[in-house]
Amino acid sequence: MSVHSQSQRVTVPQLMACKGSQKIAALTAYIAPIARLLDDALDMILVGDSTAMVGYALPDTLSISVSTMTAHAAAVVRATHHACVIVDMPFGSYQQSPAQAFANAAAMLAGSGVSGVKLEGGAALAETTRFLVDRGIPVLAHVGLMPQYMNVMGGFKAQGMTQMAADRILADARAHADAGAFGVVLEGISEPLARQITEALAIPTIGIGASPRCDGQILVTEDILGLSGDRIPKFAQRFGDAATVIREAAQRYAQSVREETFPTLDQCFGVRPLG
Ligand code: KIV
Repeated sequence: MSVHSQSQRVTVPQLMACKGSQKIAALTAYIAPIARLLDDALDMILVGDSTAMVGYALPDTLSISVSTMTAHAAAVVRATHHACVIVDMPFGSYQQSPAQAFANAAAMLAGSGVSGVKLEGGAALAETTRFLVDRGIPVLAHVGLMPQYMNVMGGFKAQGMTQMAADRILADARAHADAGAFGVVLEGISEPLARQITEALAIPTIGIGASPRCDGQILVTEDILGLSGDRIPKFAQRFGDAATVIREAAQRYAQSVREETFPTLDQCFGVRPLG
């Protein structure tokens, strides 16, 4: 159970205050029924653009739109009362200019009720982080392996394996922290680098394929529930088996339909003896 009061939604300043005192537990959610079940346990829910791959079976995250992400974020906010909900800004909705980023981020906040946005990008995007934060939009930065930059990075590969690459990622994280980001997601980087960034920054780091020493952890919910097929990423772990629960329920339902044990007359309206 999250240590934050269950009667109020966790705020961005409360997440920041976790640094050095308690770990931040975060997961993704895209739809109301899952978000409702996760809410009490978590400090933060991310409406990730990974929904493109996980929810829409697309090959990457590049084609999801602002309106689709806003609709998912609104559903997650309506279904929850506790966890701080943050939404991913989709590819192409913020990279052009800080003004473009503000227009889209403001529309996403107004249209969904989330508490902030996440954006992927190196130091070049720090100016955008500052522009949003100065205008009232909390920003969670995302550095290291950035799925929206897969075409530049040559796929989904762990980052920061050379000293030069590691120095650049540290500089990226610092730039966003200096620009006012409330936290930074460290994805797919070497463990010593994740530890070094966590020690260097005054804001929380949230790791995914990073280090147990990060200030918090995030995973894709479908990976921890066994809903991502047979293969899960090296950095994830299955904490439950929802796949078996769902598959077996579907089989029992189908069998009941075929055997005519479902529905019963008690489940019907205006029942008269069958002729
Ligand atoms: O889109 C996503 O789900 C993410 C995380 C898992 C960090 O960005």
